[in-house]
Amino acid sequence: PDVTPLVAGNWKMNGTRDSLNEIKAMGEGVKGPLSEKVEALICPPVTLLYVSTALCDDSPLLIGAQDCHEKVSGAHTGDVSAEMIADCFGTHVIVGHSERRTDHGDTDQLVRTKAEAAHAAELVAIVCIGETEAERKGGRTLEVLKTQLAGSVPDGATAADTVIAYEPVWAIGTGLTPTSADVAEAHAFMRAELKARFGGEGAKMRILYGGSVKPANAKELMAVENVDGALVGGASLKSGDFLAIYRAY
Ligand code: G3H
Repeated sequence: PDVTPLVAGNWKMNGTRDSLNEIKAMGEGVKGPLSEKVEALICPPVTLLYVSTALCDDSPLLIGAQDCHEKVSGAHTGDVSAEMIADCFGTHVIVGHSERRTDHGDTDQLVRTKAEAAHAAELVAIVCIGETEAERKGGRTLEVLKTQLAGSVPDGATAADTVIAYEPVWAIGTGLTPTSADVAEAHAFMRAELKARFGGEGAKMRILYGGSVKPANAKELMAVENVDGALVGGASLKSGDFLAIYRAY
């Protein structure tokens, strides 16, 4: 099926007003013919969300958030709802990032509820899954991916409203990446699972690779079958690196 790849940047807890220059440069940098074939998304911290969408008003660069609460509003101090993200013209939200799972105890069930909240607000949910180093060493990678996919992705998810991001936890921020063969095996497995559950939608649903993607390895990783783009952390903070990864397509 015809799938438009997505190159997404997750700034995590990095970025102040000074960093808006980088967003602006990225917004300018993704203008051009490639933007018709490859989508680009940046998820800055929520403090910069509204200004970022305004800055990129005339750019194909999409702006999203890194997490959302599962409810629309209410007494949840410090949380941000999917509706609030949409209200700031965000289009995507990452849910279930391994740092949320570890630091905040987000479970598969909660991640699924957050993805449903994203869909209710007409946001694209980027659902993150991935095995730890111990799970990989124990030969449990595919079993973990199966459980997380089944638990974290809502019923009725479509290729338009849901993106899967495969991030081996041991590859995040470490400079380590799986071999292309390992990425191919994981992505083929996830594709089969998605097809079995969602049929034609599962065949088209984008599956991103994330974990130490940088300009030097982007082309190789994104050329692997069933890899429909990248979720980039550290290398998405600087416009030069992010644009180099985007242009690897
Ligand atoms: O969401 C992004 C990932 O956690 C990857 O981070 O590119 O810094 O390894 P990284």
